[in-house]
Formats: sequence, structure tokens, C-alpha cells
Amino acid sequence: MQANFHKNIARLITDIQAEFEVPHFVETGTNVGQTAEWASEHFDDVTTIELDDDLYETAVSERGHIENLSIVKGNSTEELGPVLADLHGQAVVHLDAHLGGKWLASAGDTTASEDFTECPLMDELDAFKGLEETHYLFIDDARVFTSPRREPFNPDDWPSVQDVIHKLEEVDPDYHVIIYLDEIIAVPPEGRAFVRDRIRTYKTEDREASSRLRRYIMNKVWQHASLSGPVRDL
Ligand SMILES: C[S@@+](CC[C@H](N)C(=O)[O-])C[C@H]1O[C@@H](n2cnc3c(N)ncnc32)[C@H](O)[C@@H]1O
Repeated sequence: MQANFHKNIARLITDIQAEFEVPHFVETGTNVGQTAEWASEHFDDVTTIELDDDLYETAVSERGHIENLSIVKGNSTEELGPVLADLHGQAVVHLDAHLGGKWLASAGDTTASEDFTECPLMDELDAFKGLEETHYLFIDDARVFTSPRREPFNPDDWPSVQDVIHKLEEVDPDYHVIIYLDEIIAVPPEGRAFVRDRIRTYKTEDREASSRLRRYIMNKVWQHASLSGPVRDL
């Protein structure tokens, strides 16, 4: 099963899991459970929280059989605290209960309720205050916090990246915050050098792979045009 994020984010999460033997994965915003199922293949246990009745029912019917996966029905602003309090050990936490365009369409009647917010992130982050463990946080869709959202999203529901970073500092002043690909990642101090080095490696590998691809394409173009020899380097 593939997770709903970039392959390098999936890699980073499994690398963190393996290096620090992180037992738990927690997610807000299950949708139908695709990322949760992926996580269940890599972590001892996974808990995911979904507000919408229909999406919750679909996730349970499609993935309820997975033994190490718990699907919780409810609002992440209320359910996340008790889930975190029950953990023994560290977790990678995927905060993804905020709405994107395609999810806005699939969120059913949920958006009609009075206390619905398009982005519960700031309240979710409050649930991490005062915990014994400092968890690895992956806040999905970084781009929606780095600049205002388009219409029809409600601008009052969305914190800025600055608000998010201030809140993370309140949770743990030692958090190291990185924005990589489409994630805001909060890394506990002991993981800082590891995460930095992993991301450097992925970037170097991606750069080499794209150089190889460029050379390959240019060689094909030159050969096709019957020009003298292959392009050796670019
Ligand atoms: C972006 S989708 C999640 C995608 C999923 N994490 C994945 O990777 O496949 C957002 C989901 O969050 C749910 N949601 C929105 N507000 C929520 C809240 N306050 N608590 C829990 N779930 C919420 C929506 O119903 C929607 O299913």
C-alpha cells in the first residue's frame, strides 16, 4: 500500500522508525485509510481519527480487519489528547485533518456542522503540550500554511506557518522545524542530525537520478537527429 505523500516523506518516516525504533503511528484525518494502512505495515500499531461518518464507515469496512490498526470516530481536537495519553513510547504523528480541495468535496455533511473548522491544527497541537514524550510531527500540506488559501476556503480557519512554528515552540522549545517537500516536520532534538542527513542523501540521490535522466534524453535526441556522437556529460 502506498501512503498519500511524496515517496521521500514515506522513506523519511520509515527511516526514523527504524533508527529510533519508534513503535507508534498516529494520524488525524483518516479519510478512507490509505496512509493508515501503509503505516500499519511499518509500525507496531497505528491509530487514526476521522470526523466524517461516511468516511469512517468506509475506512472501517475496507480496513477494519487490519489487526494493528485502530480507527477512531470523532473530532481530532477531542480525540487526539486521549490517544496520545495512552501511548507508551514515541510516535510519528501525521497531522492531516485539514481540508484540501478534493477532500472538501468528499467530506460529506461534516462541513455543515456549526463547530466545524477547515483546519483544526492549532487545537491539535495543544494536545501535545505537557506530554512526557516529544513525538515526530509531520504536518501535511505545508503549502497551505506558507501562503493564504484560495476561495472558497475560509481564511480565518487557517493558521500561518509562523503561527504553527510558534505553537510548536510552545509544545517543546527544543523542536527543530524543517519544511521539506509538502510537510512541516517537527523533529525532537535527538533526531535532528539524523533527519538532516537523510534529507541531504535523498536530495543528492534525486539530483543524480535527474542528471542521468537528462543525459539519457539528450543522447536519444542527438541520436535521433543523427548527430555525431553521444552527449558525454552535461
Ligand atoms: C486530507 S484528508 C486525509 C487523508 C488521509 N490522511 C490519507 O493520507 O489518506 C482529510 C480528512 O480529515 C477529515 N477531518 C476534517 N476535520 C477533521 C477533524 N476535526 N477531526 C478528524 N478528522 C477530520 C476529513 O473528513 C478528511 O477525511
